[in-house]
Amino acid sequence: MDSKDKSSDISGLPAGRGMLDDNNVNVLLEALPYIREFHGKTVVIKYGGAAMRDESLRQAFADDVVLLKYVGLNPVVIHGGGPEITKYMNRMGIEVRFQHGLRVSDAETVEVAKMVLLGKLNADLVGRLGRAGSPAVGLSGEDGGLFEVAPVTNAEEVGFVGNIERVDIDVLNHISEDYIPVIASVGSDRDGNSYNINADEAAGKVAAALGAFKIVFLTDIVGWLEDPEDETSRISVTDVSAVEEALDSISGGMRPKLAACVNAIRGGTQNAYIIDGRRPHSLLLELFTDAGIGTMVTP
Ligand SMILES: Nc1ncnc2c1ncn2[C@@H]1O[C@H](COP(=O)(O)OP(=O)(O)O)[C@@H](O)[C@H]1O
Ligand SMILES: [Mg+2]
Repeated sequence: MDSKDKSSDISGLPAGRGMLDDNNVNVLLEALPYIREFHGKTVVIKYGGAAMRDESLRQAFADDVVLLKYVGLNPVVIHGGGPEITKYMNRMGIEVRFQHGLRVSDAETVEVAKMVLLGKLNADLVGRLGRAGSPAVGLSGEDGGLFEVAPVTNAEEVGFVGNIERVDIDVLNHISEDYIPVIASVGSDRDGNSYNINADEAAGKVAAALGAFKIVFLTDIVGWLEDPEDETSRISVTDVSAVEEALDSISGGMRPKLAACVNAIRGGTQNAYIIDGRRPHSLLLELFTDAGIGTMVTP
C-alpha cells in the first residue's frame, strides 16, 4: 500500500465512499450488543508472544486497542518481553539462565530487562497507539508507586525476581480517562532494588485491583489445551474452580496465565480469556463476535 493511501488505514480518514456489503453490516450488527455491554468498562490486556514479535501483528494489536478505546472501553495494557530481553542479553554477552521457569536475574540482568522493556517495547507500543489515534502513557511498576514488590521466596536461586504485594491504582485512575496506560512488568522495593516481574501475574493483579470487567491474555497458542501437545484439544469455556483444581498439574508458561485468571476473577473480574496472539485481530474477534476463539474462564 502506498504510504499516502490511507483508505484502509484505521489511523486515517477514508479516502472516499467505499463499498459496504451485507457481510460488513452483519459484522457491525453482531458487535453491537458487545459494544453496548462493554461501554465505559475496563479491560486489562496482557500483551506478549507473537503479537509482540511480528511487525504486522504489532500494528494490528495497536489498531485493535485504539478501536476499543474509541468504542468506549478503558483498555489497560500490560506487557513483558522475555525473548527480546534474552536477545539483548546475548548481544551484550550476559549469560542467560532459567530456574523453575524464572529468569535468573542478577542486578545487571534486571538493568538490561528494564532498558529493553521500557526503552524499547513499551516505547514502541506507546508510539503506535498515539499514531493510531489514542495517546498512551508508558509506566513501570515504579511510576506513581503502582506496584509494591517483594523478592520471590527462592530469591537465593533466582536473584531479583519479584512478586507484587500490592497494586496502587491511583495513578491509573488519574490517567486512564484520557490516555491508554501501557505498563511494563518491572518494579522496585522500598530500598530501590529493581525486580523482574512475571507479566501474567502483573496483569491478573492489576485486573483484580481495578475491578476490571474483563482480562485478556494474548499468547502463542490457541488457548488452554487439555493436552499441551495437541492444539485441537482447546478448552473453550471453563470456570474458575476447574482452573484452580488443575493449576498444580500445569507447567510452563500456561501456569502463571491460569493463576492470573484465577486472581483476576477472584478479585471481581467477570471473565478471563486466553487467546491466540498469532492471529491478527484476535482481540476484536474474541471481544466483539460470537466466535469465542480462545479459552474463556467464567466465575
Ligand atoms: N496445557 C497447556 N495448554 C496450553 N499451553 C501450554 C499448556 N501447558 C504448557 N503450555 C505452554 O505455555 C505456553 C504459553 O506461555 P508462554 O510461552 O509463557 O507465552 P506468553 O508470551 O504468552 O507468556 C504455550 O506456548 C505452551 O508451550
Ligand atoms: Mg509467559
